[in-house]
Amino acid sequence: MPVISAPHAFNEGQLYVDLRSIFGRSLYLKCEGFNFAGSIKLKAAIEMVEAAERQGLLKPDSILIESSSGNLGVALSMIAASKGYRFLCVTDSRCNLSARLLMEALGSEVHVIADLDANGGFLGARIDYVRGLCESDDRYVWLSQYTNPNNWGAHYRRTAPEIARQFPQLDVLFVGAGTTGTLMGCARYFREWHRPVRIVAVDTVGSVAFGGKPGRRMIPGLGMSMRPPLLDESFVDEVIRVEEADTIRTCHRLARHGFLFGGSTGTVVSGAMDWLSRYGSNDLTAVAVAPDLGERYLDTIYQSAWLKDLYGDQILEEDAPEEVTAGSPSAGSRAQRTTNGHRKEYKRQKEYKK
Ligand SMILES: Cc1ncc(COP(=O)(O)O)c(C=O)c1O
Repeated sequence: MPVISAPHAFNEGQLYVDLRSIFGRSLYLKCEGFNFAGSIKLKAAIEMVEAAERQGLLKPDSILIESSSGNLGVALSMIAASKGYRFLCVTDSRCNLSARLLMEALGSEVHVIADLDANGGFLGARIDYVRGLCESDDRYVWLSQYTNPNNWGAHYRRTAPEIARQFPQLDVLFVGAGTTGTLMGCARYFREWHRPVRIVAVDTVGSVAFGGKPGRRMIPGLGMSMRPPLLDESFVDEVIRVEEADTIRTCHRLARHGFLFGGSTGTVVSGAMDWLSRYGSNDLTAVAVAPDLGERYLDTIYQSAWLKDLYGDQILEEDAPEEVTAGSPSAGSRAQRTTNGHRKEYKRQKEYKK
C-alpha cells in the first residue's frame, strides 16, 4: 500500500496498454498520466527543481518561472505548492483552459502570451517575456526546460530504465518530441543498452523541431517553433511527422474503446501504427510513450464544435469505425517520414522489413 506525504512521491511507472485489440498490431503504450500532475512532465519538473535546490539556486523568497504549454506548468505548480515556492507560468493561448485552471487552483500565477512570434509559434515570445522578468528581478529562478540537462536526465534515469525492465527484448521505441527531453533521455539510455533499439521520434506537421516548414499547430505538447536545444539527432534513427487531423482521429479511435488519452498520445500512436504497418512483424516488440490522459482536452480534441471550426466538418468522418486487422493500414497512416542517414536507414530497413 503506497502511503505518501508529498504529491510527487507517487508516479505509476509500470502501466502499459496493448493496442492490438484496437489497431490489429501489438504496440505497448506506456501510460505516464497516472500521477497527481497528470503527465510525464512530473519527472522533468521534480528533477529540475531538486537539482536547483542542490545547487543553492532556490531560496525561501525565490519565484520559480517557466515557459510551458501546460503540463510542465501543472507539474511545477504542484511541486511549488508542496515545497512552499511561488511559481509563475508563462504560457500562450493554445494552453488548455483546464491546465490553466489547474495551475491557478494550485496557487500559481499564469501569464498568457497571445501574439505569435516570427516563426508562427509562441515560444520566442514566451521566452522573451521570461528573460525580461529574470533581468528585472533576481528573485526569479528560470529552470529552462528547453536547455536544462535534468529534463532529459529524468528520462534517462527513470522512464527508459522502467521500459527496459519490462521489455528486455525491446526492438523499437516511439517517443513524441516537444523539448525532446523524453526523446533524448530514452535515446541516450538505449544507445548504451545490451541490444540495439530503433528510436523513432514522432513530431507534428508544422513543427520545425527537425527542420521543415512552420505551420499551424493547435494541439499543445508536441512540436516546437524552434530547433530544440536539447536535441542531438545522432541518437535518433528516424523521424515521423503526423498531421493534426490524424492525431485527432487516433485519439477518437482510442476513446471509442474507452481509452481517453491526450493529444500527443494520438500523435505518437498514429505515427507508430503507420511505421508498424510498413516495417512491423508480429514478433517485433514495440513500445510507445503516452505522455498524458484526455481530460485536459475535453474542450478541444474531444469537443465537436472546436474540431469542426479548426479542421472542418469531415474531420471525424474519414475514420472508419471498424477494427483494423493486422497487416492492413492503420488509422492515421499518412505520416510523413524522414530518416537519419541513408546508410543507416538501408541497414535498418533490411533488419525490420520481415
Ligand atoms: C502532453 C505532452 N506530450 C508530449 C510532451 C513532450 O515531451 P518532451 O518535452 O519531453 O519532449 C509534452 C511536453 O510538455 C506534453 O505536455
